[in-house]
Amino acid sequence: MCGIVGFAGTEQAAPILLDGLKHLEYRGYDSAGVAVYSPSSGLQVKKAKGRLEVLKGLTDDGRNMEGTIGIGHTRWATHGEPNDVNSHPHLSQDNKIAVVHNGIIENYVEIKEFLLSKGVCFQSETDTEVVAQLLAFYYRQDGDLMMSVYRVLHRIEGAYALGILCADTPCSFIAARKDAPLLLGYGKGCNFIASDVTAIIKHTREVSFMEDGEVALVTSDSITVFDALGRKIDKEHSFVEWDISAAEKGGYAHFMFKEIMEQPDAVRKTVAPRIKEDRIVFDELKLDEAYIRDMKKIFIVACGSSYHVGMVGKYNLERLIRIPVDVMLASEFRYADPLVDEGTLVIVISQSGETLDSMAALRKARDLGARILSIVNVVGSSIARESDHVLYTWAGPEIAVATTKAYSTQLVLLDMLGIWLADICGRISIEEYSSLLEELKRLPEKMEMILKNTEDIQYFASRYFNHDSVFYIGRNLDYALGLESSLKLKEISYVHSEAYASGELKHGTISLIENGTLVIALSTFLPLFDKELSNIIEVKSRGADVIALTTCDMAEELKKTVHNVLCIPRTSLIFQPSLGIIPMQLFAYYVALQRGCDIDKPRNLAKSVTVE
Ligand code: F6R
Repeated sequence: MCGIVGFAGTEQAAPILLDGLKHLEYRGYDSAGVAVYSPSSGLQVKKAKGRLEVLKGLTDDGRNMEGTIGIGHTRWATHGEPNDVNSHPHLSQDNKIAVVHNGIIENYVEIKEFLLSKGVCFQSETDTEVVAQLLAFYYRQDGDLMMSVYRVLHRIEGAYALGILCADTPCSFIAARKDAPLLLGYGKGCNFIASDVTAIIKHTREVSFMEDGEVALVTSDSITVFDALGRKIDKEHSFVEWDISAAEKGGYAHFMFKEIMEQPDAVRKTVAPRIKEDRIVFDELKLDEAYIRDMKKIFIVACGSSYHVGMVGKYNLERLIRIPVDVMLASEFRYADPLVDEGTLVIVISQSGETLDSMAALRKARDLGARILSIVNVVGSSIARESDHVLYTWAGPEIAVATTKAYSTQLVLLDMLGIWLADICGRISIEEYSSLLEELKRLPEKMEMILKNTEDIQYFASRYFNHDSVFYIGRNLDYALGLESSLKLKEISYVHSEAYASGELKHGTISLIENGTLVIALSTFLPLFDKELSNIIEVKSRGADVIALTTCDMAEELKKTVHNVLCIPRTSLIFQPSLGIIPMQLFAYYVALQRGCDIDKPRNLAKSVTVE
């Protein structure tokens, strides 16, 4: 959840670190800090509660910190409230060692008690400080920093990406990783570590991904990597395809809006390379056909919006492949006793590829014998690397905390997978296959049509932005769409909202409908159009204000009952949520805008949830 960056080179480090942190702020933004070393000033640490701007002000954009080597951190608080003292980097008592950390040290209480008994004094309430203090404690005994780092890594339990800078070895810093993302960046005359490539893409596109247990020694002209036993290893280098412009706002007021607008292109990039001669082709999937035909069940696990993709997937995959599809929140799956075995294909969906609960669910499923196929956006991420098969969503970097283009690309890729599997299993006719493929190809263009015409959405947002409770109702795929629409609204606008399967209303929730309650009725799943209409009439007759979403060909019909109608182009049934989500994302965006919310960085949230 936190962001780490490290730099060793010949230029002034602090401005480069602060710029890197700017691109990592989406991972956590309640405080930030940097530690740099220079021969004249020694080890200097500056940190501050609040957004990165505060730290930038404190350091004159980094200019008033001398030194060409350093580490930086942007925090999403777990242990200890966000304040200056709990911010990273944390210093050892002798002020020699600075540590930045992403993750959680689970046994920090026990280590802290041990160190307190040895006379070590602590400044902060964080778990991270024990790493700095324990390292200094061992270092005083060993006199060899690397040896002491290994001793610390053997002693701590939990998840970590660490950056360590020591005043005694000021030409290098050390990085270590277990269950939290960290990559190495190879520059010209300089080298980097970062939680995410966006932090360093301006300087280098040549990276390698650290694996669990690895430790790296970074200097300005080399990066040496060691395995968990301290043996030197060669790392494979990867080249990042996209450039810095993809990670910048490019004239848009918010990343979220930019990313909403990028959806047609993102979907195009995800779909087009996988259609060859009018067939869906997954060159990257080495799933053998015999396995697919014998498959007994599919289990989808994910968190948040990615889970909502799974909800759409359940309806669509069962419809297409005709085998049972279960979908479960990864945080539930990991502690449940799920019915998963060798005959189960487990699909893990994750934008970041680093979500801890999804990762734990993946490992559990693997231990139960399942094959793991992941749908991931971040290339080289942990989930991608631990899966048997990976399908990448080529959405490009997603910076806004609330997902939009990653959701859309996940959705379309899961649908494609469903069609592909159904074809192998012989459960889809040639006609249906071709018609789905035609519609798939036209999806980006239909998305563009929605994005070109947003006045009605803006109007409804300006009319209803001050409502404090909103209900989304829908049936079947529209219910799944409602879950995501509701999450979008609540996370960025802080308006309370709920999504209900329309048929469930009368089992309790309808008691909440009163005069003026805003209900967004999703009516794009046309086989149940009439049923949904009855639910709309039910809530209207109890005083609700209704905004309805349907396909353009049904708009007139719906207008006989509902005054406020939004419409989207018609597509194949299974793809309709891919279009339906766009007005819902925009509605949430405009409501949040009207309410003056911090859209890209909503309170209490962070983009990549690498803690439980
Ligand atoms: C909501 C949102 C989150 C993520 C969830 C899973 O807009 O972005 O709900 O979908 O935290 O994250 P990933 O997909 O990275 O595993």
